[in-house]
Amino acid sequence: MTYSVAVSGASGYAGGEILRILAGHPDVEIRTVTAHSNAGQPLIEHQPHLRSLAHLTLQDTTPEILSGHDVVFLALPHGQSGQYTEALGDTPLVIDAGADHRLTSSDAWAAFYGGAFHDPWTYGVPELPTAGGTQRANLVGTRRIAAPGCNASTVSLSLAPGVAAGVIDPGDIVSVLAVGPSGAGKSLKTNLLASEILGTANPYAVGGSHRHIPEIRQALVAAGATGDVRISFTPVLVPMARGILATSTAPIAGDATDAEIRGAWEAAYGDETFVQLLPAGQFPRTADVLGANTALMGLAVDRAAGRVVVVTAVDNLVKGTAGAAIQSMNIALGLPEGTGLTVNGVAP
Ligand SMILES: NC(=O)c1ccc[n+]([C@@H]2O[C@H](COP(=O)([O-])OP(=O)(O)OC[C@H]3O[C@@H](n4cnc5c(N)ncnc54)[C@H](OP(=O)(O)O)[C@@H]3O)[C@@H](O)[C@H]2O)c1
Repeated sequence: MTYSVAVSGASGYAGGEILRILAGHPDVEIRTVTAHSNAGQPLIEHQPHLRSLAHLTLQDTTPEILSGHDVVFLALPHGQSGQYTEALGDTPLVIDAGADHRLTSSDAWAAFYGGAFHDPWTYGVPELPTAGGTQRANLVGTRRIAAPGCNASTVSLSLAPGVAAGVIDPGDIVSVLAVGPSGAGKSLKTNLLASEILGTANPYAVGGSHRHIPEIRQALVAAGATGDVRISFTPVLVPMARGILATSTAPIAGDATDAEIRGAWEAAYGDETFVQLLPAGQFPRTADVLGANTALMGLAVDRAAGRVVVVTAVDNLVKGTAGAAIQSMNIALGLPEGTGLTVNGVAP
């Protein structure tokens, strides 16, 4: 069976990456692409790297144009998805790359986003440990998927194995992330001009205001955290188009040994294709996962500090968004999970 697909937000970064991956997916036909201010223009003018899709024209993003497909991807600014998702009740599978359906707590939504709260959908991070299994089980056969925030899934994947195994204390997490500007989307913003970001590292959303914080808390609670999940989260914008390098630390819980600690991550990810733990002493670079649906992590136990340190590299547009969305789509549709996805990066 070939699944017909519509991609909204197709002129943007997330929509563009969804299209790039879908263009190599054997089981889908990209039938419709939509945009907002750029509707009416050829897709290729906005995504000149998508040569095989040069025949497509950006249409308006309306419920009528999006309906009638087997799968609809919403890659819109947060707060915009809800109006379309309600009108797509008959669509077999809808996948939202935005934040609108990620949070289960309306209070957290109000505190970090504001505006109308929408029902939570199945969270699209298959490998994430949950109490008693992985998030993969929840994705089988689901009709509504909330793809993750890129920083959120990177940090959650980094720490969830230790939380699930009880070898780290989620009450005192510190995460500092080097992030590329594509994470902020394609629309023009003064602080993202080349003259503002080249040759400098710029911290932002310092002091607990970043919108991905409640999403990380939610994932770690799903992994089995009890009590307060407290996270100090600091992203730093660095001059690389794509990529996240997240360094996350948390106190060692109780008297967990080094072997028990590393064993928790090995048990969680040893059989995974797209989340890989490097051997002791090795740590990833963002360059290693460029264009790949891979979260690559290194782990150290810092006994002097009494903390576990996890460094994870992700391509924000692939494993952080589009790759996670399509991996989740494959699971929901009963296709082989890795269809259309690659574990290999682009180097140098
Ligand atoms: N960038 C990432 O790394 C990343 C990672 C994870 C999740 N996400 C999520 O993915 C979503 C899209 O992000 P992005 O980075 O792709 O942003 P973007 O590059 O700014 O693209 C936004 C897209 O949405 C369209 N759009 C804007 N306002 C709209 C409206 N009112 N109604 C319908 N369409 C509208 C734009 O169309 P026009 O160009 O025609 O105006 C464009 O196609 C966001 O919710 C974001 O949080 C992004």
